[in-house]
Amino acid sequence: MSIKAPRGTKDALPDQVGRRRALEDRARRIFAAAAYREIMTPIFEEKDLFVRSIGQATDIVEKEMFALGGEGDLCLRPEMTAGVVRAYLEHNLHKSEPFQKFCYFGPLFRRERPQAGRLRQFHQIGIEALGSGDPLIDAEAITLSLRLLADSGVGDVRTRLNSMGCPECRPAYREALKGYFGSKLGELCPECKARLDRNVLRILDCKKDSCRGISGDAPRAAESLCEECASHHGRVTQALDRLGIKYEIDHRIVRGLDYYTKTVFEFSSDRLGAQDALGGGGRYDGLIKELGGPALGACGVALGVERILIASEGAGEVPARTHGVFIVTTSEALRQGAFELVEALRAGGIQADLGHEAKSFKAQMRMADGLGARYAIILGEDEAARGAVSVKELATGDQCELPRAGVISYLMEKGGWTA
Ligand code: HAM
Repeated sequence: MSIKAPRGTKDALPDQVGRRRALEDRARRIFAAAAYREIMTPIFEEKDLFVRSIGQATDIVEKEMFALGGEGDLCLRPEMTAGVVRAYLEHNLHKSEPFQKFCYFGPLFRRERPQAGRLRQFHQIGIEALGSGDPLIDAEAITLSLRLLADSGVGDVRTRLNSMGCPECRPAYREALKGYFGSKLGELCPECKARLDRNVLRILDCKKDSCRGISGDAPRAAESLCEECASHHGRVTQALDRLGIKYEIDHRIVRGLDYYTKTVFEFSSDRLGAQDALGGGGRYDGLIKELGGPALGACGVALGVERILIASEGAGEVPARTHGVFIVTTSEALRQGAFELVEALRAGGIQADLGHEAKSFKAQMRMADGLGARYAIILGEDEAARGAVSVKELATGDQCELPRAGVISYLMEKGGWTA
């Protein structure tokens, strides 16, 4: 019997980890420049946290949670926003300074039907700004996401924006949708028929051709917004316009989580298949209160790591050099000395390695090349007899002999080891 990784999970092999780390590092820089500070929350939480925040009648809560059961009825987290709000309230951060900005990186779990770009364990990079109703925060979530996508080599990102209104104006919109879709009930897919009473907004999100044809002409949220929501929406679009950011208003963007109010948005790319969402987010002004805190606004976004990596494949990223220096020896007897040199180099902050299998000189040089080493240090019988080593720069082929004691300072002078 051969054991395989569970369905819908993916190993990131060492060759692929470099791109993931580079993406995370880029995100850290972009978020830190906008004063978002990293937060880490557990990968499992009480199930009730997600039922109360994402909503009982959503696909995630109804079908996709990985329940762990046990004490406290636990489940693996399907998203990050709820956990961040819980931590903010649990540690009374709202009391010391209500407005706080967080960023995060980590794995999420949804029991979805796996397909290209859709996994059961996937990873998100995201931000949450808690404690403010300022529309500029909504614009900021969009601009930072687009900066990260552009810097990661994902071109042609489509940004779609909508407003879902608030508890004041949404009931009227919901009624308008119920009236409209109710009159076309026979043409809706079975799932959407069931959604009519349970979660009518989600019919707008159905990808089936028959339902899409109908939802195209459905009433638009923008037509039912109360004065406050309309003014908020206007200020978000104004901020984006002033920055020259391209977006489309799309009344069918309603998101798959119930906590949203006012602004919602999604990013997508043609470089992805059916699962074309690179990320999404929006404002959730009711969630802090729903989870037991004060009535404060909040807004955030999460981007899918695996999808960004697919969409940016071949974008000319330089593969990370794993080994700075590779030590080549010409006899087994010299390997102990080579190991001591490797350790001395590493202690000096220079990445260094040697071959661990008995291989010919030529095979070791090929290994050095294959690993992308900058230098090969050759420790041969003749050099050893003179207390020397040969240092070969692999890109140019230039080679020189140095006293062994001087090799670390020589390489240090070359610089660039920690970049
Ligand atoms: P979401 O739209 O459910 O939002 O997920 C955000 C992104 O995570 C998606 O656009 C997609 O790129 C990625 N993603 C979701 N599910 C999968 C999957 N099964 N496989 C691979 N990638 C996936 C949220 O999670 C909200 N918490 C975003 C947010 C933050 N709203 C406010 N703040």
